[in-house]
Amino acid sequence: MSPSRHSAVVTRLRAAGCVFAEDEARLLIAAAPTPADLDAMVDRRAAGLPLEQVLGWAEFCGLRIAVDPGVFVPRRRTEFLVGQAAVLARPRAVIVDEAAALGRPRAVVVDLCCGSGAVGAALAAALDRVELYAVDIDPAAVRCARRNVANAGGQVYQGDLYEPLPAALRGRVDLLVANAPYVPTDAVGLMPPEARLHEPRVALDGGSDGLDVLRRVIAAAPPWLAPGGHLLVETSDRQAPQLIESVAHNGLIPRVARSDELNATVVIGAESAAVGRCG
Ligand SMILES: C[S@@+](CC[C@H](N)C(=O)[O-])C[C@H]1O[C@@H](n2cnc3c(N)ncnc32)[C@H](O)[C@@H]1O
Repeated sequence: MSPSRHSAVVTRLRAAGCVFAEDEARLLIAAAPTPADLDAMVDRRAAGLPLEQVLGWAEFCGLRIAVDPGVFVPRRRTEFLVGQAAVLARPRAVIVDEAAALGRPRAVVVDLCCGSGAVGAALAAALDRVELYAVDIDPAAVRCARRNVANAGGQVYQGDLYEPLPAALRGRVDLLVANAPYVPTDAVGLMPPEARLHEPRVALDGGSDGLDVLRRVIAAAPPWLAPGGHLLVETSDRQAPQLIESVAHNGLIPRVARSDELNATVVIGAESAAVGRCG
């Protein structure tokens, strides 16, 4: 790519309001197979599509996650959810080492509201062996997630929360993770245009207080959890107290984990057998 071509892309991206025009130009130039493809990609980016949807991938937990147009772009803050889940899985992996020696997988992981499948794929990469199941209601997300969890042998189902999961998973799930929509309906219109215009409403809108989907995730979680299993959901600081109440009300032992660096909040519900073992 000639320097003049590079600076033409930077100029175009800057004019479209891209703050990181230099970095974006470098990524787009590297990704475009031909000059015509590059023009088309720059056009789409200048029209406001998220960079990740234009490139076709996002970096998440050090992995390259495929992201199709119209699919939620995994956020950096969600790496905190993955980290918290991985920490909880590890002591458990030791406990079930005997089972592993018998050829059984170490952790059963369910990624609800999986979008691209980034959370499940990252957990599969972080843990030694997992049996991974993911669910999303949106067919475009399900198609995308199938590509991202294929390496881990993950299964992706389309449907509403737990409804499409195999009944045989009841009582066997070690880690139940969900980054579900949690933006209050009135706040969706205040989101940046990249999200508001190019990510599906079903990925963002969590109802009047943002908690419609998460309340349902929590209420139906207990029968799916294995003894000592954990539910982990991403939320906002402001919403966390209500979710803690909901977790306790549904018979799980609640706590909150917070990262100031990533501005991330995760509410965790432990099945009672988990407490005393890994906190
Ligand atoms: C905020 S996005 C998160 C996607 C992914 N977990 C991530 O972190 O990148 C929420 C996802 O939940 C899905 N979703 C919304 N309501 C759902 C429901 N009732 N059942 C299953 N998936 C749902 C949306 O389609 C969207 O992909």
